[in-house]
Amino acid sequence: MLLRSPLVVMVVVSALTLRADAAGAAPPQVPGLPSQTADYFAYAISNLPSYFQSDGVTALDNTPADNLLTNAGATLGRVLFYDTRLSANNTVSCSSCHHQANGFSDANQFSAGINGQLTTRHSMGLADVGFYQNGRMFWDERAGSLEDQALTPIQSPTEMGSTLPDVVSKLSQTKFYPQLFQAAFGTPDVTPDRVAKAISQFERSMVNYNSKFDGYLKGTQTLSPAEQAGMSLFNGQARCSGCHTTTSQLIQEAVNVGLDSTITDPGVDGQGRFKAPSLRNVAVRGRFMHDGRFSSLEDVVNFYNTGVQNSAFLDAGLKDPLQLNLSAEQVSDLVAFLNTLTDNSFLTSSLFSNPFVTLPGDYNGDGVVDAADYQVWRSSYGDTTSLVADGNGDGKVNTEDYLVWRSNLGRTWQSLGSGSGSGIGQNAVPEPAGLVLGLLSSCWLFLCRRRRRVG
Ligand code: HEC
Ligand code: HEC
Repeated sequence: MLLRSPLVVMVVVSALTLRADAAGAAPPQVPGLPSQTADYFAYAISNLPSYFQSDGVTALDNTPADNLLTNAGATLGRVLFYDTRLSANNTVSCSSCHHQANGFSDANQFSAGINGQLTTRHSMGLADVGFYQNGRMFWDERAGSLEDQALTPIQSPTEMGSTLPDVVSKLSQTKFYPQLFQAAFGTPDVTPDRVAKAISQFERSMVNYNSKFDGYLKGTQTLSPAEQAGMSLFNGQARCSGCHTTTSQLIQEAVNVGLDSTITDPGVDGQGRFKAPSLRNVAVRGRFMHDGRFSSLEDVVNFYNTGVQNSAFLDAGLKDPLQLNLSAEQVSDLVAFLNTLTDNSFLTSSLFSNPFVTLPGDYNGDGVVDAADYQVWRSSYGDTTSLVADGNGDGKVNTEDYLVWRSNLGRTWQSLGSGSGSGIGQNAVPEPAGLVLGLLSSCWLFLCRRRRRVG
């Protein structure tokens, strides 16, 4: 019976957390990291299957010599990637538009940035970004490298609306960032260059090799006849692999695929040329192409089959013939193959998930429960709008929130981590109210079951 109660507590706690998030007013969160630094190096480099090397993918690596992957660097990158402090009003993080469950893309056609403003292109899935050889980022390749890209959304007025000095100052004021920067770069200084480097390390570690397609390559899984037929079409008659090459399924240059006969978005150079992200995890991206015009993989394959528009800029590889003449069955075979590229373990891995949790009583969100938090509580006493000191999540700041502070006094962000190497603080300390409700629900369940057994 007791075995069931943690689950109940978790459900109740997540319901409470969701409610607090929705109201947009909760104590600021801090990272809950595993006590032993997670091993990104093992995941992304040592354990990378040998076929990434034998088919030439690793030779395409765009990692600059001054930003090699380290566990501490990628760990810091993970925290930054999920931190809303990178936006002007603490509401938007990179992960607001790049969701892990969607392969770090967005199920929506356009993504909401600061104050709900929408992007004009679809959020790109992040997979194997380190293997795009020329290193240029964005659909139109306007960023010269992953490092350059990382500082762009922070300063974009529609995405995160912040400035680099503002971000540096906010991060420096916490107790945890200087420690994370120290671990990653040797000194505690927070600089824009280091922010960009750490985020890039995290992104380059986002490789995928546990999909069904990988199982097939490793000889541990077999493809269904439809998937097998789809793979043959992909590499043969349908000519997809002419552009989406290697086991990384990544094109290596921007091209015009004939979405429109006249240019609607200039792309790289006014010729409607775009790069495409790796097709790994493409099935969970929700929308497809730079403008997210298609909402299913069937639509994408049907487009290649019958919808390619001719123009002077259309890539030669798609010109002749303009129509692929695939049967409906062949279209669905291709879709079945694209679905084998989904790596579910990557989409849920704690290496890449949101590390942020609430440290009860840490009302200024700096990672330590101390006198400064008492001051925050004191000055917002009676408040029902800005609920940063609402430690028990009941919608008002009162004496109970003082008690939350008091009973957690001295705790630090380091205490939030789980013991295991790749675990994270998802098993956050339950808020007191959640705990009580959780216990009540467990008792209730217990009584119900007893009654049933007795009756
Ligand atoms: C408001 C939504 C939004 C936010 C916030 C956001 N992105 Fe993006 N991201 C996008 C969109 C949309 C694109 C494609 C834009 C384009 O090509 O013009 C993109 C593209 C990218 C790319 C290019 C991938 C490739 O293969 O070329 C990377 C990398 C990336 N984002 C990382 C980040 C990081 C890191 C952050 C946080 C510092 C971030 N994004 C914040 C929406 C967002
Ligand atoms: C001539 C090169 C080329 C060929 C051939 C090609 N693609 Fe693409 N593919 C691209 C480019 C470039 C994009 C991005 C285009 C854009 O958004 O404007 C893309 C986008 C896609 C996307 C959407 C990716 C995303 O994240 O939105 C899918 C899925 C896809 N292609 C599958 C296929 C399949 C299946 C085939 C074979 C039937 C194929 N492609 C043939 C170059 C190509």
